[in-house]
Amino acid sequence: MFRVTCYMFVYYMKYFIANWKANKNYYETSVWLDVFLDKVKNDKSLQKSLQNNLLKIIIVPPSPFLIYLGQRLKEFKNIYPCVQDLSMFESGSYTGELTAQSLQGLVDYAIIGHSERRSTFNETDALLEDKVKMAQKYHIEPIFCVRDEKDTIPNGVNIIAYEPVYSIGSGNNEDPINVKEQKSRLNLSSKMTFVYGGSVTKDNAQNYLADNVVDGFLIGGASLDPIHFYDIVKLA
Ligand code: PGA
Repeated sequence: MFRVTCYMFVYYMKYFIANWKANKNYYETSVWLDVFLDKVKNDKSLQKSLQNNLLKIIIVPPSPFLIYLGQRLKEFKNIYPCVQDLSMFESGSYTGELTAQSLQGLVDYAIIGHSERRSTFNETDALLEDKVKMAQKYHIEPIFCVRDEKDTIPNGVNIIAYEPVYSIGSGNNEDPINVKEQKSRLNLSSKMTFVYGGSVTKDNAQNYLADNVVDGFLIGGASLDPIHFYDIVKLA
């Protein structure tokens, strides 16, 4: 985790991850980027945070738009494209699979183990470990999602997203005190980045940032609106 010491204060790199899930078409993607990137360009203090490595913004669109997203983000420091999932297979006769090999150079991050993949697509700990290995082999940083301490965290994972299932898309964001307790139950190394996801909005995000309970957020619903997402990022 990146730290900058300035006088008496320690500043931590904060992560804001916009997970669009299976939402938005090409036109909607371009409009979102027009609005959000315009806000970023015109915000001097946000620009400064990005330039000084105090902030990372990670955008996770549907996969067909990743190349376009990468092109739009080229001029921005610390704003990155991320894929929502990738294949456990490396290459070959696996029609429809999206491999780390094919994504190398196009994305910097991959969400792996989202609870929607675990529940709807029956993804197991063993399969997720293979996906993490594949991402690492092709220099893609996994953002590994866990529902609680019972989910196995594969070796070498640096970014953990804690997402309690009952909080995802429900409007019932987890109490920051419970998030803090869950973080200690996960027994993470101090070098790991810990983000929270589950009904994060501009109205509740500050509660988690207050005493550095989290290093950032994985945001679903509220990230679909570029202004709402920007309002959350501004809290960094
Ligand atoms: P939500 O989704 O913010 O809509 O609850 C978070 C997620 O599933 O990553």
